[in-house]
Amino acid sequence: MSATNSPYDPVEVADLSAEAVQGAVDTALAAVAAAQDLDQLKAARIAHAGDRSPLALANREIGALPPHAKADAGKRVGQARAAVRSAIEARQHELEAERDARVLVEEAVDVTLPYDRRSRGARHPLTTMHERIADVFVAMGWDVAEGPEIEAEWINFDALNIGPDHPARTMQDTFFVGSETSGVVLRTHTSPVQIRTLLDRPLPVYVACPGRVYRTDEIDATHSPVFHQVEGLVVDEGITVAHLKGTLDHFAREMFGPATKTRWRPSYFPFTEPSLEFDVWFEAAKGGPRWIEWGGCGMVNPRVLAAAGVDSERYTGFAFGIGIDRTLMFSRDVTDMRDMFEGDVRFTALFGAEL
Ligand code: PHE
Repeated sequence: MSATNSPYDPVEVADLSAEAVQGAVDTALAAVAAAQDLDQLKAARIAHAGDRSPLALANREIGALPPHAKADAGKRVGQARAAVRSAIEARQHELEAERDARVLVEEAVDVTLPYDRRSRGARHPLTTMHERIADVFVAMGWDVAEGPEIEAEWINFDALNIGPDHPARTMQDTFFVGSETSGVVLRTHTSPVQIRTLLDRPLPVYVACPGRVYRTDEIDATHSPVFHQVEGLVVDEGITVAHLKGTLDHFAREMFGPATKTRWRPSYFPFTEPSLEFDVWFEAAKGGPRWIEWGGCGMVNPRVLAAAGVDSERYTGFAFGIGIDRTLMFSRDVTDMRDMFEGDVRFTALFGAEL
């Protein structure tokens, strides 16, 4: 490198010759043009415009030139460096634009694709309640039986010892299919399944019969013309009230927990004798613990056994019926029955996706 006070010697400052500077610019521009991505461009910038690049080093040589040569060389090197810088800047913009366009394509989110977090369908809480109940009885070895919702009036009433003059048979309670004398009704309870079971199955029978029933009630918070019951029927030799009570105690504990208490009150149903109603002691979340009326039951009336052709001297039985909707309402704090039938997922979602 030349000393500051040496005379101008074009050979010693060959780095500053027009050819050398042009050569450095050409190499720099070629490297910039060849850079395929921003990393390669960064490497080219360091090599050709950085502090240790040939043009930077050449720039430093200028100070060693005699005054008359300084201006000329300074202009040449300055223009060369500016040309390289602007080429780098232009390439920088190109490569950034390319990268942005690529990111847009590669990382694009197609909002029209189906997304994978759709909530899973779940069964209606009444359905799961049906099945929980059925499971309790299946676990005891019982069968689940079903009967038709459109039922013969004889099976829905007469065979169950509900005579022609019984108030429940009037138009006010019963949906007749066709005229009032058609002999065909929408079943008003699940008890007709008792008759069908006794007519169809060999004894002994142990069956639970969940299903839909119909009464001509106006819809309001506690009434619906369609609701659900579970019937239980046992007919065997030697069946007593103790079996009835033990079964329903077990049922109540399975449904509401091992500490659940039951209470029995004398009642009347034409198809059971004696008849009872039973309550459960329920630790309701709202309103505090209390007795809640749960269902009707009793020993199968021998007249019912006779109507179904069963020898009532040899066989005895018990039957019970409970409301499934009611059970769901008091056990899960449902205050308006209509919520259970409207199919609004804001209601059913509260019960989770129990499958
Ligand atoms: N079927 C009766 C009702 O709907 C309930 C019941 C069933 C009562 C079986 C006794 C025995 O109210």
